[in-house]
Amino acid sequence: MNIKQMKLSRRLFQLLTMCCVTLTFAQTDYKSFQPGEIWEDNNGVHINAHGGGITVVNDTYYWFGEHKGNNNQALVGVHVYSSKDLYNWKDEGVALKMKEDTSSKLQKGSVLERPKVIYNDKTNKYVLWFHHELKGQGYKAALTGVAVSDNITGPYEYIDSFRMHPGVWPKNFSEEEKAHAETYAKKEDLKWGQRSKHGVYFLRDFEGGQMSRDMTLFKDEDGSAYHITASEENGTLIISKLTDDYLSLSNEYVRVFPGGNNEAPAIFKKDGKYYMFSSGLTGWDPNPARSAMADSMLGPWKSLGNPVRGSEEEKETTFRSQSTYVLPVVGKKDAFIFMADRWTPKNPIDGRYIWLPVQFEDGKPILKWYNEWKLDFFDK
Ligand code: DGJ
Repeated sequence: MNIKQMKLSRRLFQLLTMCCVTLTFAQTDYKSFQPGEIWEDNNGVHINAHGGGITVVNDTYYWFGEHKGNNNQALVGVHVYSSKDLYNWKDEGVALKMKEDTSSKLQKGSVLERPKVIYNDKTNKYVLWFHHELKGQGYKAALTGVAVSDNITGPYEYIDSFRMHPGVWPKNFSEEEKAHAETYAKKEDLKWGQRSKHGVYFLRDFEGGQMSRDMTLFKDEDGSAYHITASEENGTLIISKLTDDYLSLSNEYVRVFPGGNNEAPAIFKKDGKYYMFSSGLTGWDPNPARSAMADSMLGPWKSLGNPVRGSEEEKETTFRSQSTYVLPVVGKKDAFIFMADRWTPKNPIDGRYIWLPVQFEDGKPILKWYNEWKLDFFDK
């Protein structure tokens, strides 16, 4: 090796070392949850997975969420991250991409919110559902969208977005209730809350299909899966069983809490009972959380009140956040994490994540604030 070659190889070695050091620094080393703080991924970038949910494959968690920019239009799509310890997250890229094609419903600039993924054991496919609003139409379209992939991280193939259950009656709408709704539909002076309570919006949308906005999915132990969404101008929740392949809504569905004005549903199951966290309706502003329980996903659901324990401000604002998902921790009994978003509509990309342990008090799920906490919380 001559002097020139020696200098070159020394320079190469230095460059390689610099690269390794940069890569090492780019790995995060979180050892706890710090709700409300910036949460960096393996590239040192604040995680961009808002309104998200988590899917577990073997020993890895995959966090899917809305990739936000500086306004609420979806320009990128559904972002996915992976983690083995729930503290440190690796950017796995965009699972479902918004389309350049302006003839696609999923074109860039439409609104895509609250994506959730479940695995279908029969078809071996991952199925992603999301709330979808068409470009330039605000929140008028109120569609639910579905996409599918052979791989957890995607790419997910977009199937379609649609209104729910056109021309199909729910399981819990008796002839008497239909007649009652028809009577109310004729009253012109009804307020918005009264309209959803008495089924007036339901009747209005019966032929064309019911609205679907804030949504989540729940996969039960027996493989049946459910789509839970805010419908009827956000006044009433609709819970629908998915078809066996999870790609469509079956005709088996119920209206829950008519006129109750619930958004942001998040479901979990403990000791054979189903629990739901949700919020009220105040746009991007926080409001008091709600909780409910049922013996079956298709109800009847019973309200359990505000699950937050703490200061008045915490109870009134749910720690300045809105629910999105409840994550059962793998390998720990009765360990559930409440996942919520602290929205920052002026700069959505800066939205913070509020993750807190779910605790139980007199058989009801409750939530308390911790500045910092670890998974061993569940071992105590
Ligand atoms: C509250 C919902 O929970 C969010 O997902 C979003 O739809 C905003 N409302 C829009 O105002």
